[in-house]
Amino acid sequence: MSNAKKLFIKTYGCQMNVYDSERMAEALGTSGYTQTDMAEDADMILLNTCHIREKAAEKIYSELGRMKALKEDKPDLKLGVAGCVAQAEGAEIIRRQPAVDLVVGPQSYHRLPELEARTRTGVRALDTDFPEEDKFEHLSARPKAKRGPTAFLTVQEGCDKFCAFCVVPYTRGTEVSRPVDRIFSEARDLVERGVREITLLGQNVNAYHGAGVDGDRTLAQLIRELAGIDGLERIRFTTSHPNDMSDDLIAAHGDCDKLMPYLHLPVQSGSNRILKAMNRKHTAESYLKLIDKIRAARPDILLSGDFIVGFPGETEADFADTLALIEAVNYGQAYSFKYSSRPGTPAAERAEVEEQVKSDRLARLQALLSRQQKQAQNDMIGRTVRVLFEKPGRLPDQMIGKSEYLHAVHTTGKDLRPGDLRQVKIVKSEANSLQGALIQKPQ
Ligand code: 5AD
Ligand code: SF4
Repeated sequence: MSNAKKLFIKTYGCQMNVYDSERMAEALGTSGYTQTDMAEDADMILLNTCHIREKAAEKIYSELGRMKALKEDKPDLKLGVAGCVAQAEGAEIIRRQPAVDLVVGPQSYHRLPELEARTRTGVRALDTDFPEEDKFEHLSARPKAKRGPTAFLTVQEGCDKFCAFCVVPYTRGTEVSRPVDRIFSEARDLVERGVREITLLGQNVNAYHGAGVDGDRTLAQLIRELAGIDGLERIRFTTSHPNDMSDDLIAAHGDCDKLMPYLHLPVQSGSNRILKAMNRKHTAESYLKLIDKIRAARPDILLSGDFIVGFPGETEADFADTLALIEAVNYGQAYSFKYSSRPGTPAAERAEVEEQVKSDRLARLQALLSRQQKQAQNDMIGRTVRVLFEKPGRLPDQMIGKSEYLHAVHTTGKDLRPGDLRQVKIVKSEANSLQGALIQKPQ
């Protein structure tokens, strides 16, 4: 029987939040918490929220309403809100939902043990400041528990770009890069714990400019240095802005074997008029030129993007430019959204495109993108890829992993284990994955 208190974290949104939830669990580990998958068992529930989607705050308030019921049976249960909704709403959450004990913004997770202790004295705690210190520094004392083969590692946070539709510069603050030595010790630690693939995370990751021993490092330099870690087999990074896609990073895609041939490079729109209104500071032409350069360095790279349809002022001609850009690029993977206004952003002041028009454009855009995605999958049939296996599938002896191109691949093999990197021949393309056959190792 253990007396450990139980922590349930519900994570919304991006990989940054998945990473932050792991760090929060580690921080609260020092206060005696172990994680549980069941909200009903928990002594503390944390909602790690995301503010990028529509009605995010309202959804969190209704979730809190449901969680409040659990408190009726368990008065000592602590209820906390973290993440970008916590940052954006702050004290409003405390005011609107009396059941909430704790509100903590993304820059203050290292203070969780202290905030949690405060809630134990019956005080409701709020911390949504942007401190000068590196929050991750305080979150590094953790036990050497085994990990799965893939992990995220945050190298930079925040964004100075101020796209007219986006809340990130307000909720995550301006751009801050972590120093190289911290990233290195975290990466080495992950590898010692069984990780073979690391995805470097940042809202604007290719703007990375962290301090090294003899001056700042670019993302490309950081990747090349991390590639020297024995046992680390694969490196990825996300999310990038076209204007920070420097020549050295493009070159790394051509000559750094451990950097995987996949790039998420959001363009948002193919219309120069709309790109200007979005404050993106690039044009459709400059983006296409960039794509040519990237493909020259790494011809087989799989490209992914983000698109917004129905941004204020978008005409049918603007939308046609977006479709034309998609045709020109040929994406292997993509995320697309209807524009929805975020209070406090410049675009929120502008007249909106009609809902029906937005829905219609999104459907047409997604039809094109999914044709391209399907084609990219079909093109893999007959090719041999290297798969990093992550977990068992539903069928006996089945394992699921990812190819270099981030395609999910499933295959069967009696001796396969999570963490194995094996050559696989792709035999079939399915809805969202590829089926492969193991190429037998030479005896
Ligand atoms: N409306 C619709 N989509 C948005 N995104 C960010 N803000 C908004 C918004 N207000 C999309 C962008 C971004 C992705 C993470 O979410 O495409 O790249
Ligand atoms: Fe938001 Fe990305 Fe634009 Fe930064 S670059 S403001 S995170 S959409």
